[in-house]
Amino acid sequence: MDKATNIFFMGKGGVGKSTAAALNSLFLAQKGFQVLIVSLDPAHNQSDIFEKSLSDKPGKIVDNLMGIEIDQDYWIKQYLKDVQNQINKTYSYLTAFNLDKYFRVMKHSPGLEEYALILVFKDIEQRFGHLDFLMFDMPPTALGLRFFTLPTLSLIWIEQLLALRQEIIKKRDLITKVKLIKKEVETDKILNKINEMKRDYQNLKDIFEDCEQTHINLVLNPDKLSLAESTRIVEALHDINITCSQIINNKMQLHSSCDDINTTFSDIPICQCPYSETPLIGLTNLEQFLKANGNLLEEQLNYLL
Ligand SMILES: Nc1ncnc2c1ncn2[C@@H]1O[C@H](COP(=O)(O)OP(=O)(O)OP(=O)(O)O)[C@@H](O)[C@H]1O
Ligand SMILES: [Mg+2]
Repeated sequence: MDKATNIFFMGKGGVGKSTAAALNSLFLAQKGFQVLIVSLDPAHNQSDIFEKSLSDKPGKIVDNLMGIEIDQDYWIKQYLKDVQNQINKTYSYLTAFNLDKYFRVMKHSPGLEEYALILVFKDIEQRFGHLDFLMFDMPPTALGLRFFTLPTLSLIWIEQLLALRQEIIKKRDLITKVKLIKKEVETDKILNKINEMKRDYQNLKDIFEDCEQTHINLVLNPDKLSLAESTRIVEALHDINITCSQIINNKMQLHSSCDDINTTFSDIPICQCPYSETPLIGLTNLEQFLKANGNLLEEQLNYLL
């Protein structure tokens, strides 16, 4: 494989995203693939599931499998630092103003989490893109969807910014009555920056929309609330041109009915994952579960293997 395949585990709180991500990762590692499991949920669980102490630096879980639990606060600060550097660079004439105090307030502003997660995703891709699989344990629905929506939304306002900047350049041209030569327009620092952001977000959007490079596993439980939320997730992803690769119907019990799930998601492959009486905690229990249900995992991953 040239570039790692990204596998995301999405779903309502508590349905078993982290457990499914852990089981799938372990299974792929046992098959000999090089795998990194990344917890993007600030309320991390992978350390507890594997009973291994993980941190924001990649740590070995078993042969072929590494784990990382990202430090969201660090990445939020990193994002703000990047923005501040950009502003200072682009508007160097504004250094008389003290921008620092605005950034101290900004770190509390809503919506920064998804920017931080996008930065993490780019960083992970850059540093670990040579592995076979990058497995992302996602936060519950709201933040998970904001993460996937960010590139599409950003591209919409970037188009507006581009138009605005071009308009400003035109007006500046008129006011000074000096026709700007093409070269000056091309080297407009702000226009260049906006175009760079556009390329960046378009690249992310392309990755998320590419079914070869990105797989979204939607984990749900056989109950009405979980089904209702999953329906909304599939629709929200569909709106931004992202396809859900498969549904993992987790915690299936003998008497669980799957009729509603099968009818609702008739066009998405559905894999069943049984309820485990033994807690799915610790390597021994996870490995035992895989031994007993290896065929199901094979089915969950057969589109990749
Ligand atoms: N197939 C299963 N059988 C039995 N218990 C399971 C199964 N899958 C997950 N669980 C249990 O369900 C609980 C929630 O699982 P998990 O933490 O993986 O869910 P989550 O979707 O990641 O939750 P959160 O939204 O809080 O991140 C845990 O106690 C886990 O051990
Ligand atoms: Mg979780």
